[in-house]
Amino acid sequence: MPRIPDHIAIVMDGNGRWAEKRKRPRNMGHQAGLKALKRTAEHCARSGVKILTVFAFSSENWQRPRQEVSRLMELFLKALDREVKNLQQNGIRLTFIGDRSQFPAEIRERMIAAESLTHSNGEMTLNVAANYGGRWDIMQAAKNLAREVGEGHLAAEDIDRDMFASHLSTADIPDPDLLIRTGGEMRISNFLLWQCAYSELYFSPVLWPDFGPDELDRAIKAYQERERRFGKTGEQVRDKKRA
Ligand code: IPE
Ligand code: IPE
Ligand code: MG
Repeated sequence: MPRIPDHIAIVMDGNGRWAEKRKRPRNMGHQAGLKALKRTAEHCARSGVKILTVFAFSSENWQRPRQEVSRLMELFLKALDREVKNLQQNGIRLTFIGDRSQFPAEIRERMIAAESLTHSNGEMTLNVAANYGGRWDIMQAAKNLAREVGEGHLAAEDIDRDMFASHLSTADIPDPDLLIRTGGEMRISNFLLWQCAYSELYFSPVLWPDFGPDELDRAIKAYQERERRFGKTGEQVRDKKRA
């Protein structure tokens, strides 16, 4: 059986262009994007994916027009109110990564409530990156490590890759096996910079609101055809598989 990626990460891009093509306000694109997320998360859970991390709002997205930002916050709040029950029914655990301190209190409270309500669900983890930036993540890990060294709890020489990774916001989850970006742009846009060091990349021209099971299956199939070498030779990798 070809292997299903344990962890898929998605840059959900193209909502605005989807709406513009229909001569509708960008917010309509974001609403349709929420539906695409529901379809995709359910399909991932059914397919045996263990973790789905989605980029919902980047640390740079605050620079958008004020009205778009406040519509996005409204949508986030609404989704936290209405969709969590659905996740609960599907056995999906909800977690968040990113700098929460910038969000209004009512959003922060609902994030905590949703995380604790779904905490023991075991079908899949839906990990939502909100006010997330890869550089922020690396910086906050470095700051915390520096603090521990400063307080004498840790020697600088003892900081290795695993210890660094355990200070990132993704401490408890493995790196993404597959990173998908929709919307046709071929860039990372400050998503999981450290964690994607060896992820397989898949760029889809499909705008996020049009994304769903079919395109996800195409991405998984492309992933299954890749040879992940992690710096080794193809021969080494194939020998290990045979052994
Ligand atoms: C992604 O879609 C959603 C967010 C960044 C919040 P966009 O809103 O970036 O859509 P495009 O790229 O303008 O089409
Ligand atoms: C990346 O999309 C962030 C999210 C999908 C949340 P952007 O639309 O913000 O990325 P750029 O600005 O085109 O690089
Ligand atoms: Mg975009």
